[in-house]
Amino acid sequence: MKLNQILGTEFPFLQGGMANIATGEFAAAVSNAGAMGLIGAGGMDVDTLRENIRKCRALTDKPFGVNIMLMHPQVKGLAQVAAEEHVGFITTGAGNPAPFLPMWKESGAKVFPVVAAVALAKLVAKAGADGVIAEGTESGGHVGELTTMALVPQVRDAVDIPVVAAGGIASGEQMLAAFALGACGAQLGTCLLVSQECPIHENYKQAVLKARDSSTIVTGRIGGTPVRILKNPMAREYVAREKAGADKLELEEFTLGSLRRAVFDGDVKTGSLMAGQVAGQLTEIRPLRAIFEDLYAGYQARLAALNQEEQA
Ligand SMILES: Cc1cc2nc3c(=O)[nH]c(=O)nc-3n(C[C@H](O)[C@H](O)[C@H](O)COP(=O)(O)O)c2cc1C
Repeated sequence: MKLNQILGTEFPFLQGGMANIATGEFAAAVSNAGAMGLIGAGGMDVDTLRENIRKCRALTDKPFGVNIMLMHPQVKGLAQVAAEEHVGFITTGAGNPAPFLPMWKESGAKVFPVVAAVALAKLVAKAGADGVIAEGTESGGHVGELTTMALVPQVRDAVDIPVVAAGGIASGEQMLAAFALGACGAQLGTCLLVSQECPIHENYKQAVLKARDSSTIVTGRIGGTPVRILKNPMAREYVAREKAGADKLELEEFTLGSLRRAVFDGDVKTGSLMAGQVAGQLTEIRPLRAIFEDLYAGYQARLAALNQEEQA
């Protein structure tokens, strides 16, 4: 069954819950454009999340959800708000959401945790998750070690709940590949940064458009919090300090507020410009609806072309 049939959306796409970017307004715009919009609770406190959920609900009558980052200091409160507000769809990042699953299921939500390895996929499936999002290291933001190509089929074989592919999907060909690997749909992040509706600073969008295939780098691999961002003076300095043995505190202080500097101030030198490897294939700013339609039509066209080649 495709993801759109499971979730009641038009397209089999989830919007990645991007902290400090995916507001209630943006999530509603995504849902209105036919995919599953997600409010990124990562940069919010409890009250802000509640406000954003209510704003989103006022702006769309389509399904939407919330992404909870499990390393957030107020995670319990955020999890509670999602349940109290009866959000219908919840994704989680950076950890095992098992302790919250009974509360969320009781509130009527479908829960799809993000996993970067088979072990966590098995744990969350056993705990009652409705699906998993297998996220490869090509992705923007926090990443694991495995590629989407290697991870998705192994997760699919390990669990008997739906698997969504994330990481490296921004064209119809990549969508077709994700289906071929056993995914029921895709979670998109980087390609939505260059949507007209995305509320990041114009300088951030232009930096994504200028990126080439090799323009991203992973910071924090040594310290155990790997994050894929666009190369800039901040990223290079971070990796240099890391290699020189800087401790966690020094690195945290060095990057303090860097995502907000990128998103709100458009500071492309000292800001943290989270983006995935597909940044190199993005060439224009377009409305969300056009991005989703092209992605789906591109998938269908590529599938038809392959079938034709096969029969020739
Ligand atoms: C700018 C940015 C911020 C992100 N923040 C989050 C987050 O707060 N929570 C989360 O679960 N995933 C986050 N992600 C990952 C996305 O949800 C998604 O899985 C990923 O972007 C998919 O890969 P792609 O970037 O190749 O499209 C972020 C991604 C980007 C690009």
